[in-house]
Amino acid sequence: MSPFLLTRTLPEGATEAALRTDVREGLTGVPKTLPPKWFYDAHGSELFEEITELPEYYPTRAEREILMARSGEIAAASGARTLVELGSGSSEKTRHLLDALTGLRTYVPVDVSDSALRQAGQALTEEYPGLDVHALLADFTTSLTLPDTPGPRLVAFLGGTIGNLVPEERAGFLASLRALLAPGDALLLGTDLVKDESVLVAAYDDSAGVTAAFNKNVLNVVNRELGGDFDPESFDHVARWDAAHEWIEMRLRSRTAQTVKVRALGLAVDFAEGEEMRTEVSAKFRPDGVRGELAAAGLELGHWWTDRAGRFALSLSTVR
Ligand code: AVJ
Repeated sequence: MSPFLLTRTLPEGATEAALRTDVREGLTGVPKTLPPKWFYDAHGSELFEEITELPEYYPTRAEREILMARSGEIAAASGARTLVELGSGSSEKTRHLLDALTGLRTYVPVDVSDSALRQAGQALTEEYPGLDVHALLADFTTSLTLPDTPGPRLVAFLGGTIGNLVPEERAGFLASLRALLAPGDALLLGTDLVKDESVLVAAYDDSAGVTAAFNKNVLNVVNRELGGDFDPESFDHVARWDAAHEWIEMRLRSRTAQTVKVRALGLAVDFAEGEEMRTEVSAKFRPDGVRGELAAAGLELGHWWTDRAGRFALSLSTVR
């Protein structure tokens, strides 16, 4: 049997259909929005990799520091024989866990990108002889069925990506994750923490302009996939700290009054001069908030680790 298997749980055409719905609803709503999941085409994924290396963007480094320091404790506490990783992407940080989880038999990377799953999966089966990689092409925010692999399972959701969901979405998402877990399974969750506004804003508005390019790239995705005629250069990148919600909001602000057409949707969308469209929410957390949200979903926070500077946290929770 091949140690690499890929299961598609997304019906053919589902991604395109979801993009159409999101763009139609987002561009006709008030205020206008586009969901952040459409940032990540091939170019957007490259830009995100660049972001993770920027001096201002600390979350990736902070999380890696925690994983390097704590992977032994995580392995001992979970005893996992299956590691499931949601939004696995390049599986770069995963290697720290794979190295520490000595009883691990199966790795289940879950992503919407076929190419990322194949690249990372093939490499890992070569680097870790004896490890089965069962990749899942799936959108974990809508539905997820895990393959029948040996327990206990450790489900990892890293990077702080849970912050891209607003609180009501997080509640539903965590409850559906809880439903996937059996007693003895665990959830490893990465959350970025509330900190000084200037540090947060700089992380989402870097001086090299990479985050601005990443933000505007969503317009290129709409142009290419849905026949849009957005001129990305006629929008400015905006990153703002929303102190009431404790989240960073990224927006695109129209420089002029303009009408944008999206051919595949038969839409003509008017932007006023200075009008802002929301493209991402990135929530920042406090320990009690994380504990409370997990508890509301039936999960009990057992471990809480931060980097030395206290910027980012990994938590390990189990079924109550
Ligand atoms: C990968 C979703 C965690 O919200 O910090 C980086 C994406 N957006 N810079 C984040 C992102 C702008 C990132 N996540």
